[in-house]
Amino acid sequence: MKPKTISQMTPALVALILMLAIMPFQIVALTSVALPGCPEICGEIQIPYPFGIGPGCSLPGFELSCNTTSNGSPVPFLLNSIPVLDIDLTWRRVRVNKSIISSCYNQKITSGMISNSTDDSWNLSGTPFWINNWQNVFIVIGCDVIASITFGINETNTRLGGCITMGCYSADIINYNGICSGMGCCQTYAPQAINYYQVSLQHWNSNSSKQYNSSQFCGNAVLVEDGWFDISNHIPAVNLYKQQMRVILDWSIGNEACETAQANRSSYACISDHSFCYDSTNSPGYWCHCYPGYVGNPYLEGGCQGYPCPAFSRPKQNRPGECELYVPPIFGLIIGLGLGITGFSAFLLCFAIRKRIKLFEKRKNEKLKKKFFNQNRGFLLQQRIASDDDATQRMRIFGLDELEKATNRFDKALILGQGGHGEVYKGILLDQRIVAIKKSKIVDQAEIEQFINEVVILSQINHRNVVKLYGCCLETEVPLLVYEFISNGTLSNHLHAEHGPLTWDHRLRIALETARAIAYLHSSASISVLHRDIKSTNILLDDYFTAKVSDFGASRSVQIDQTGITTVIQGTFGYLDPEYFYTHRLTPKSDVYSFGVILAEMLTGEKPNSSTMFEVGGLVTYFTSGMRENRLEEILDPQIAVNEEHRTELEVFSNLAQMCLRRNGEERPTMKEVEIHLEVLWRFNQQHEQPRASQTLEERQLLLHESIAGNDTTRQYSFEQELISSFKLPR
Ligand SMILES: *[C@@H]1O[C@H](CO)[C@@H](O)[C@H](O)[C@H]1NC(C)=O
Ligand SMILES: *[C@@H]1O[C@H](CO)[C@@H](O)[C@H](O)[C@H]1NC(C)=O
Ligand SMILES: *[C@@H]1O[C@H](CO)[C@@H](O)[C@H](O)[C@H]1NC(C)=O
Ligand SMILES: *[C@@H]1O[C@H](CO)[C@@H](O)[C@H](O)[C@H]1NC(C)=O
Ligand SMILES: *[C@@H]1O[C@H](CO)[C@@H](O)[C@H](O)[C@H]1NC(C)=O
Ligand SMILES: *[C@@H]1O[C@H](CO)[C@@H](O)[C@H](O)[C@H]1NC(C)=O
Ligand SMILES: *[C@@H]1O[C@H](CO)[C@@H](O)[C@H](O)[C@H]1NC(C)=O
Ligand SMILES: *[C@@H]1O[C@H](CO)[C@@H](O)[C@H](O)[C@H]1NC(C)=O
Repeated sequence: MKPKTISQMTPALVALILMLAIMPFQIVALTSVALPGCPEICGEIQIPYPFGIGPGCSLPGFELSCNTTSNGSPVPFLLNSIPVLDIDLTWRRVRVNKSIISSCYNQKITSGMISNSTDDSWNLSGTPFWINNWQNVFIVIGCDVIASITFGINETNTRLGGCITMGCYSADIINYNGICSGMGCCQTYAPQAINYYQVSLQHWNSNSSKQYNSSQFCGNAVLVEDGWFDISNHIPAVNLYKQQMRVILDWSIGNEACETAQANRSSYACISDHSFCYDSTNSPGYWCHCYPGYVGNPYLEGGCQGYPCPAFSRPKQNRPGECELYVPPIFGLIIGLGLGITGFSAFLLCFAIRKRIKLFEKRKNEKLKKKFFNQNRGFLLQQRIASDDDATQRMRIFGLDELEKATNRFDKALILGQGGHGEVYKGILLDQRIVAIKKSKIVDQAEIEQFINEVVILSQINHRNVVKLYGCCLETEVPLLVYEFISNGTLSNHLHAEHGPLTWDHRLRIALETARAIAYLHSSASISVLHRDIKSTNILLDDYFTAKVSDFGASRSVQIDQTGITTVIQGTFGYLDPEYFYTHRLTPKSDVYSFGVILAEMLTGEKPNSSTMFEVGGLVTYFTSGMRENRLEEILDPQIAVNEEHRTELEVFSNLAQMCLRRNGEERPTMKEVEIHLEVLWRFNQQHEQPRASQTLEERQLLLHESIAGNDTTRQYSFEQELISSFKLPR
């Protein structure tokens, strides 16, 4: 049921709940993060131990210097030279600015190396820091360049990677949309656990000089936080020398695993009560974390503090970190009153609806049909459809007779699904098309608005992964909607066993297709459409498991440049973005959150609003705490058969889910970014499905990126494949 009940609660009750939910977070923020007597802050940046400023204030390797920069504000510097932007203990990451040291000259060349360029490199070996391989990306800018990148894992172990760009023909640049597509720009990820890299750039087309002018002869490969760098200002290539790029670094403590480190109490870093140690997954060493239910700094004595339980719950006795439902008696009374008032107004509403239904049952005639047609803004809609050439081909207005014939006068045997809102009937039109007809029960002006809304929005959308609306019928009090019939049930049916297990490949593809549809809604249509009710029961599957996003009743269209609009909360509990819930500000990131819940649902096979999940604090808590504690295997849906090949994919997929579920909407990726990551993952998966014996992993990675770059330029793609197979990376 839509959480409309919230808007019906008394404002005082809502305020009370919000207050209770927000209060505890403030208590936690007041505890100390640095060693006693050490500065906690430099400029505007909080410095939590193990980081520290000054002697004795940090663990070895984590010293920062707090120097005043030329513009007068103090900034912490890592290793005395790298400006730090923020430090996050929970995610074990530090965000820094890295200067580009490569440069290039605008000089015509005839062949081979880009003339006069110093190649970029970075050496963090010997420090506790590693280059995060998931949140950073290598972006290569230039026309017809090959970038080969040497990644250093340790002194003896290096790997090669890289990517290739194609020409910068002016038409391609105009079409390029800010996405690194292979034209004048390509991108690649680093392998796990690297602390060193060196880039080397070459032109592969010696003929290039005939096509471009000299300022386009610059090439650059930059390491940068994914999504931060706006490529559009830099194509065709310009010199990035001395510019600063945001980069995310991981860290780990020491070089040993937990077990060894714990043996020496004087050097072991996880000293807080309620803290635990876990082995770093992508580098040597270990990390500390507070137990679930505790937050704070695990590296400090007494740093982990009891995590406050959410509103109307309290800590379970002798079970740290677990909360149980608890309503203090006085609040129970208030809630009772609140529900009483809500209940009474609901009763009045039902009464009013019944009365109206009775009234209309008495007068079923042509006049009434006309009236409904008008009331439903039929003429407006008809006009709209008639004025839009595209829409005429896709949509039409059906007569009631035609739909009565199609469904054998709304025969109960043809009901496909039934919910709080009404029924969906299967029908066969005169032209033999099979359709699904949505018929609403509720007679309420707001409900009619939703139907009209859905028609208007769907009439503007034409996407393979969005369910098609053939048309509507306006001669009933509540309009009937006529959709294409999708045969294979919902994603929810398939995930939760009613239809048997879904393979990993299917899950990945469904995720990708859903992401494509939502990203399209958010950005590609002429207006931006926010779906607002993304959940697994709204994703339909056809016989080939192609995903189709449906139910646009709650959707809103907004101007693309509008950053957020304030609305009444709508959505489904379990999928609802908490930020939107608290602030009432609707942004595309709320859809990203709901999509993240679907990803978690696909990984764990758990229903977000089941009672089992409710007991453990919700699917999102269950999933994110499982991930934080490195228990992916444990929480994984047993129906996903995991083999070695899939392990990387699962890791990337679950990281992506985690990013979508970030509490702060601004930190979530955009739907376009999510789509791109899933696209890469899907190609990677397909590459594994038909592995070529001779290919090394590096070559596969190159191909992975090329196959994306070559999406719409098939000829160039095969040419490039040839090129890659003949091109030997220097060893
Ligand atoms: C910061 O100050 C220290 C001590 O004055 C100096 O050694 C260091 O080079 C400075 N670092 C930067 C980045 O200016
Ligand atoms: C690059 O070329 C300029 C001018 O030709 C020259 O002065 C400079 O020394 C060269 N730099 C390198 C690193 O070769
Ligand atoms: C990186 O730095 C470490 C320590 O400073 C040094 O031992 C190592 O040789 C350097 N690696 C490269 C490839 O320059
Ligand atoms: C370098 O890394 C590889 C694999 O990651 C490991 O087998 C090897 O022992 C490491 N070498 C050193 C010197 O740490
Ligand atoms: C170089 O470009 C010219 C004209 O643009 C073309 O005729 C010639 O075939 C190209 N040569 C190569 C090796 O691609
Ligand atoms: C070379 O390309 C740059 C960037 O596209 C452009 O601004 C400039 O006018 C071009 N110069 C010539 C001589 O075509
Ligand atoms: C980091 O880089 C960005 C953009 O390159 C710049 O605006 C910012 O001032 C830099 N921050 C510091 C602390 O150097
Ligand atoms: C324990 O760690 C301390 C400090 O790092 C070190 O001095 C000591 O040698 C270590 N003891 C053992 C038994 O490794």
